[in-house]
Amino acid sequence: MELLEEIITVLPKPTKNGAGNNRGQKVLILFGTRPEVIKLSPVIHQLKKRKFEIVIVSSSQHKDLLDPFLDLLKIKTDYDLEIMTDNQTPNEICARVMLSLDKVLHIEKPNLILVQGDTTTALAGALAGFNRKIQVGHVEAGLRSGNLHSPFPEEFNRRLISQMATYHFAATERNRHSLLAEGVSMQNIHVTGNTVVDALNYILKNFSPSDEIENLIAKTSRLKRILLTTHRRESFGAKIRNNLKVLAEFVEKHQDVCLIFPVHLNPNVRRATRDILANRQRVFLLDPLNYIDFVSLMKESWLIVSDSGGVQEEAPSLGKPLLILRENTERPEAVRAMVAKLVGGNPEILRRMLEENYSLPTWIKSVKQVENPFGDGKAAKRIVRILEKEFPAKIVKKVVSSKLEI
Ligand code: UD1
Ligand code: UDP
Repeated sequence: MELLEEIITVLPKPTKNGAGNNRGQKVLILFGTRPEVIKLSPVIHQLKKRKFEIVIVSSSQHKDLLDPFLDLLKIKTDYDLEIMTDNQTPNEICARVMLSLDKVLHIEKPNLILVQGDTTTALAGALAGFNRKIQVGHVEAGLRSGNLHSPFPEEFNRRLISQMATYHFAATERNRHSLLAEGVSMQNIHVTGNTVVDALNYILKNFSPSDEIENLIAKTSRLKRILLTTHRRESFGAKIRNNLKVLAEFVEKHQDVCLIFPVHLNPNVRRATRDILANRQRVFLLDPLNYIDFVSLMKESWLIVSDSGGVQEEAPSLGKPLLILRENTERPEAVRAMVAKLVGGNPEILRRMLEENYSLPTWIKSVKQVENPFGDGKAAKRIVRILEKEFPAKIVKKVVSSKLEI
């Protein structure tokens, strides 16, 4: 009871997003981490354009990582659940999001909750909605690695959300088939493309990198840049440490190579990084970057090494070779497009792949910008068009009835 009271007082007043429309159907959009806000921002802008009544909720599963993205992507939240704590566990996140969000659902009574991807925020949002008999729309539905423990806990989160959602917005045909194989009804699956391509196109068109990143690019202009990101929970401990060691040794050995690593704020990542990569020549450890700075570095890299999901979807648009630092991927489309290669779980394979591609860079040189297998940049428009069909607006009814009166 005490906890609930605390949560109620924490909730700020709703702001502006719902104002000035009469569509009559309320869509609540929930996000909590960097990839969710990147991928939901094009949907939010389309919903606004089509005059949906929307309520934007941030769980703040991430705080520091999220805020610069809200500014950049011009998103104002109506509610901030402020749940982030240091070194949090998925159980803590899930419980705290569900408790706080339930209060918002009680106040706002949305007709639909939109969640994105596979985070604990997305899972908690879908479950909170389901328990209140509110329909759930899942953006980026149907990704499957086939291994419940990798990515962990994301693979299970996705599967659970698919059980609860009414609208499944799948990025690719492969994702559609995965959902069909699990018994999701065909009419509820819509292949729209991944909204990350919409977001990437928008960023590339409208922004330029900061002076700091332009300086770093200038400073490393004679070097082969490896851009690294790593943060997956299943790699914490020996795996992440061994990968970092291999990368450190590779850079040390090759004078014409540098490593640029925007380090995730997860303390497990930061500890391993500090122990292994601090104070090394040609190793640049940065704080997490805003979207345009990160994309600019991707464009300027010789090779990307990453366990990120989003980066796998962005690499084809940018035509950049990517070594996927994971044992499996739920996004094999990038591998099929010959843009990415899966390293697997063994650091010795990473070492071998780095050395082979350094001495014989045929693959690296062959990677070109390709038609992005994850989307064409119009996914958000498609999603909102589908929602318009599913939620016939009051305004449409009014127009029809006034015509009848005439
Ligand atoms: C989560 C998602 C993962 C996604 C990643 C994006 C789940 C299960 N995992 O990862 O799918 O790829 O976010 O980055 O939801 N921290 C800060 N400030 C921040 C963010 C994090 O200090 O802005 C630190 C905190 O100590 C926090 C920790 O990082 O407790 C881990 O955050 P968490 O939300 O658990 O992230 P991940 O599970 O690593
Ligand atoms: N990204 C960013 N700055 C960084 C690292 C990543 O803007 O310093 C972007 C990246 O381009 C991609 C997204 O963040 O769009 C991926 O986030 P993350 O790897 O944290 O999550 P995942 O996609 O693995 O769930």
